[in-house]
Amino acid sequence: MKRLFPVFMAIMVMAVSCRGQESLKELSQRVYDLALIQMVDIDSRLSDTSYPRSYVDGQPLDSDQGWWCSGFYPGTLWLLYEQTGDATFKALAEKHTLKLSNLPLRPCDHDIGFQIGSSFGHAYRITHEDRWLPAIKQGALRLAERFSPVTRTTRSWDFSRGWDYPVIIDNLMNLEILATAARLFGLDSLADMACAHADATIENHFREDYTSYHLVDYDSTDGHVRKRETVQGYADDSAWARGQAWALYGYTMMAHETGHERYLSQAENIARMLLQRLPEDGIPYWDFDDEAIPDAPRDASAAAVMASAFAELSSLTADHALAKQCLAMSERQVRRLASPDYLAASGTNGGFLLMHCVGNKPAGTEIDVPLAYADYYFIEALGRLLLISPEL
Ligand code: GLY
Repeated sequence: MKRLFPVFMAIMVMAVSCRGQESLKELSQRVYDLALIQMVDIDSRLSDTSYPRSYVDGQPLDSDQGWWCSGFYPGTLWLLYEQTGDATFKALAEKHTLKLSNLPLRPCDHDIGFQIGSSFGHAYRITHEDRWLPAIKQGALRLAERFSPVTRTTRSWDFSRGWDYPVIIDNLMNLEILATAARLFGLDSLADMACAHADATIENHFREDYTSYHLVDYDSTDGHVRKRETVQGYADDSAWARGQAWALYGYTMMAHETGHERYLSQAENIARMLLQRLPEDGIPYWDFDDEAIPDAPRDASAAAVMASAFAELSSLTADHALAKQCLAMSERQVRRLASPDYLAASGTNGGFLLMHCVGNKPAGTEIDVPLAYADYYFIEALGRLLLISPEL
């Protein structure tokens, strides 16, 4: 199979160049065929307690359920099931979601939103089966325990590097489970917390050009900002690519969830900034301000998150010119990610779909590797594009 893949790709490219551009439907079928092989491959190596995280130096890097990415593999499987109707994806999605059942009962940090939202959240949204509901409620209530009325935010990490109350831009993503639980269980206080966090983040995390700091450290006694810095980016005042992607996605999601104009406007401004700064092919370098660009690594995970958010924003914004640009950028990113430069060959890449992501460059970990969340947002982006513009 491994040896046949380059031949298959060459035939594909020839077929496409004879007929013009591959349609999005053809592209998605190619991705789904690959995903069936890759996702089954990942399943075959996992234990009852492990989850795929990355593939480093030719070896799978798996995690336990506490790792912030544990929900992304089940989430990718749910999205693939939704988009293809293939029962293999559904069976694997159920199996790996159920493995996470006791997660909300354990101590957690803000990432409980990522973990439960991408697994149980999709399980319920897609199947409407009540059995998936308790974990969503418990997960949201665990996250709500981390909300402070003083800082008006949910706290990110419990460890400290001299911080009092650290909040990272990534944390916007975890607001979705608060909004979901508020809607499903009539818990209005959770929706209020999500809005308070999103509002405080608009006030404190952004620079004038709509790029975002990675971490804001609040004073837990009076809520003032003690400092702004980076942990995973190039410099304190740089624009770490995935952080910008989380910001775009976070405010797009909050605009969708609440209908509030202020979140839509924030998402639109972040989008305008990104549309100006992204490289021609739409795949950002790991940090927009790394002085080594163009010799710095690209981050396919940030591109995948952005592609999904751009697609969603294109259907929310009333600015028609911006909608067109967002849709075009989302399509460009998805097409580039689905090219042989980023999409793995069947049977390679530890079962992941995408190559060339950056996890934490300053820490020297997960550089130029596959990452579980890149696959998740890539498949989500593909599904959103197909829904919005099936004719592409
Ligand atoms: N903390 C999530 C990330 O690395 O983007």
